[in-house]
Amino acid sequence: MGVDQLTAMPYSKNYDVLIIGSGGAGLSLALKLADHPTSVAVLSKMALTSGSTYYAQGGISAVFDAEDSIESHIEDTLDAGAGLCNPEIVRLTVTHGKSSIDWLREQGVVFTEEQNQSGEIKLHLSREGGHSHRRVVHSADATGKAVSLSLIERAQEHPNIELFEHHNVVELITAQTEGRTGKQVLGAYVLDTQGHQVKTISTRVVVLATGGANMAYIYTTNPHSSTGDGIALAWRAGCRISNMEFMQFHPTCLYHPDARSFLISEAVRGEGGRLILPDGSSFMQNFDPRGELAPRDIVARAIDHEMKKRGIDCVYLDISHKSEEFIREHFPTIYQQCLEFDIDITKQPIPVVPAAHYTCGGVLTDSYARTDIKNLYAIGEVACTGLHGANRMASNSLLECLVFAERASEDILLKLPGILPAPKIPDWDESKVSDSDEEVVVSHNWNELRHFMWDYVGIVRTDKRLSRAMNRVELLKKEIAEYYGNFRVTSDLLELRNLVIVAELIIRCAQQRKESRGLHYTLDYPETDNSKPPQNTILTP
Ligand code: FAD
Ligand code: SIN
Repeated sequence: MGVDQLTAMPYSKNYDVLIIGSGGAGLSLALKLADHPTSVAVLSKMALTSGSTYYAQGGISAVFDAEDSIESHIEDTLDAGAGLCNPEIVRLTVTHGKSSIDWLREQGVVFTEEQNQSGEIKLHLSREGGHSHRRVVHSADATGKAVSLSLIERAQEHPNIELFEHHNVVELITAQTEGRTGKQVLGAYVLDTQGHQVKTISTRVVVLATGGANMAYIYTTNPHSSTGDGIALAWRAGCRISNMEFMQFHPTCLYHPDARSFLISEAVRGEGGRLILPDGSSFMQNFDPRGELAPRDIVARAIDHEMKKRGIDCVYLDISHKSEEFIREHFPTIYQQCLEFDIDITKQPIPVVPAAHYTCGGVLTDSYARTDIKNLYAIGEVACTGLHGANRMASNSLLECLVFAERASEDILLKLPGILPAPKIPDWDESKVSDSDEEVVVSHNWNELRHFMWDYVGIVRTDKRLSRAMNRVELLKKEIAEYYGNFRVTSDLLELRNLVIVAELIIRCAQQRKESRGLHYTLDYPETDNSKPPQNTILTP
């Protein structure tokens, strides 16, 4: 079935499983479920390609090289995670690397190959920060596009999957039951942003696959969809949220006034790219013996340090010592995109700055992606599974999307026969609200929030900066609640309402951590506290 035809009539529909999100996590799960007699609805709040998955560059980590090993991938992941990874989850994820890549190839994803010395055709493996071996499977420098387009094509062909573009979830619908939160999920209210109508979708299972929350920062590598909706929806519904202080800043986002969110893949450093200052000198060796290939938190902090110390707007990433043929073959997208901004990367260094990139924390789940609410699951970047700890290692995210889609599908298929269809749910009530007459409030608050999060809750934090940010969050929360109570919902308002919750959760987690660890660095507690076992930060609604 194709994309839903829009309708202006009151709308309520039933499915077995509602998946919120059409990125790598959501679509993988949909395809895994739909081969069984299951009706699956997949929502995307914009186009099907709107999530981060489509923009992923570097690739997917998995052990293929004979010199590499599962143990080494585990060790590198634990090391990057700075003491907070769950070792069982790391092992579970890493051991499913090869089967996940095989599954993607079955779905039609084409990865870059090379011929080895004995003439065999093998997957080409690249290298990124934190990895001690070449183990990143990729489609040149546009891996996400290859994955996304293949999964969308398979899902569009599938008779058990219904895809809804431009459908933005307003709220999860829950009912009382037994268990930790005393709640079970029954479906969701969904704003059809083109039909301008709130629809009711009832289901037996709901899966959050809404991606990350990096739009909380003014400078980000992420697309617009990453407003942390799933985290806010789960929090309002009663789920615990964990480790939100660990927002990852990618070291190298293109610095150009017209190219705010274009990433320069870590694979460029993996292939020998050097970070240099405006005078041409390199600096990474002063911060870590692994130099340019140290984990991301270290490289981003080093760049931030140099920029602040020297008052410079950016540093540079130089790959021009490699041949033009090599650069154009391995990094065709980056080469082309930079050329459009008059930067020829085969001849010139690339101006780069760090930018918010990945949300390591999120909705707390177990090893089957189950949340605190019965029949509600969370997979992909929205979830906090324990894989990433205090800092995600490069290319472990798409792997997590695939592995936890598989885990969730196993649990859902086992449980579905025992879950009753949702009862009749009342329609969304718009009788007490009107159309807004001051949209500027929403756009102003969006900008304000993203600026103070960058300034006060960024790469380097202090207690004072965090409490300044929290004061502003309190004000915004009040204003947004009043606005939400009086006016008809729009996508911008829904996202702002979610972003302010996410901002609050990031700040609260950061305030609780009285040490520096992984991605959380504070001048007030610059050392890692090794006096007791490392603790996750867990917030309960
Ligand atoms: P996404 O792909 O972000 O999809 C989220 C989906 O949820 C979208 O369809 C969105 O429309 C939908 N959605 C959100 N909110 C709502 C709502 N309220 N209602 C309805 N729908 C909603 N990771 C790697 O492992 N390797 C890489 O090479 C890599 N490169 C990256 C490069 C870039 C530029 C970026 C931004 C990220 C990169 N990452 C990489 C990270 C990785 O791409 C993401 O973590 C991963 O793709 C997230 O997938 P997801 O399915 O969880 O979410
Ligand atoms: C990149 O290509 O640098 C991004 C990889 C990732 O975020 O895992």
